[in-house]
Amino acid sequence: MLILRDVPALRAWRAAASSPVGFVPTMGALHAGHVSLAEAARVDCATVIASLFVNPRQFGPNEDFERYPRDEAGDLAKLEAAGVDVVFVPTLEVMYPEGHATTVHVDGVTDRLEGAHRPGHFDGVTTIVTKLFNLVHPDRAYFGQKDAQQLATIRKMVLDLDMPIAVVACPTIRDADGLALSSRNVYLSEDERRQALSLSRGLTRAREAFEDGLTDAPTLRDLIRQTVEAQPLANIDYVSVADAATLEELEGPIEAPALCSLAVRFGGTRLIDNVVLTP
Ligand code: PAJ
Repeated sequence: MLILRDVPALRAWRAAASSPVGFVPTMGALHAGHVSLAEAARVDCATVIASLFVNPRQFGPNEDFERYPRDEAGDLAKLEAAGVDVVFVPTLEVMYPEGHATTVHVDGVTDRLEGAHRPGHFDGVTTIVTKLFNLVHPDRAYFGQKDAQQLATIRKMVLDLDMPIAVVACPTIRDADGLALSSRNVYLSEDERRQALSLSRGLTRAREAFEDGLTDAPTLRDLIRQTVEAQPLANIDYVSVADAATLEELEGPIEAPALCSLAVRFGGTRLIDNVVLTP
């Protein structure tokens, strides 16, 4: 597995890479969710490249950029085992040299949910993903459904900016007990982790109620909220049942695919999860 750390090396590699090139951007601290993206790319593509870069511009001033888990050696071993060909591991100076002044902003789909609670977050995401796309020139790029609004934002950016890239969505990978895998799960205490199961439990209850014929969005929203609120350590940022395409909150019956999503803080750890309900 080839490890590249600067732009000239990456450009030289890309000029000779076999198509299609599949790309898996990550911030490292890899788990089976990230690995599943690399495995999907391996099935589809002649060449698979992943990136490891903890992007400071997508963290708010009071978020966990400094303490975000970092484990380059462990990450490289997992990517190699998944059959990845190349890993791009740039430094801060490589991605944001002195004087870097450009931001990519997607309107609309970034306004609500994560965008409303994390000002500037999606500008950081779309700016770094654009830069990575311009460096890697992938044919296909792999993203997790776990970050549903990020996926919707990247899809919109690729469409609006005419990027010749197929965006591939991959399902959320969970622990056996239902907790969605996240690099941030390592921050949870034993009590917090147990109570964090309420996110997936609430979403599962909503999905089961929907499958039993309950389609009223506010009722489903309450069901999820009550499940999480029963946990004393849980602080809810939002619980949403929204149109999956526009992310606008639904106030009546679900008649088109709906995204049920939530963000919940346990102490200093913020978790998100979601499920899509399709009539
Ligand atoms: P990161 O949080 O490292 O996630 C990298 C990719 O892994 C994202 O596409 C994310 O949706 C996916 N992922 C995370 N947990 C998952 C799970 N449990 N199951 C399936 N996929 C999962 O998302 C980012 O990094 C950054 O915003 C990035 C796109 C790299 C830009 O900096």
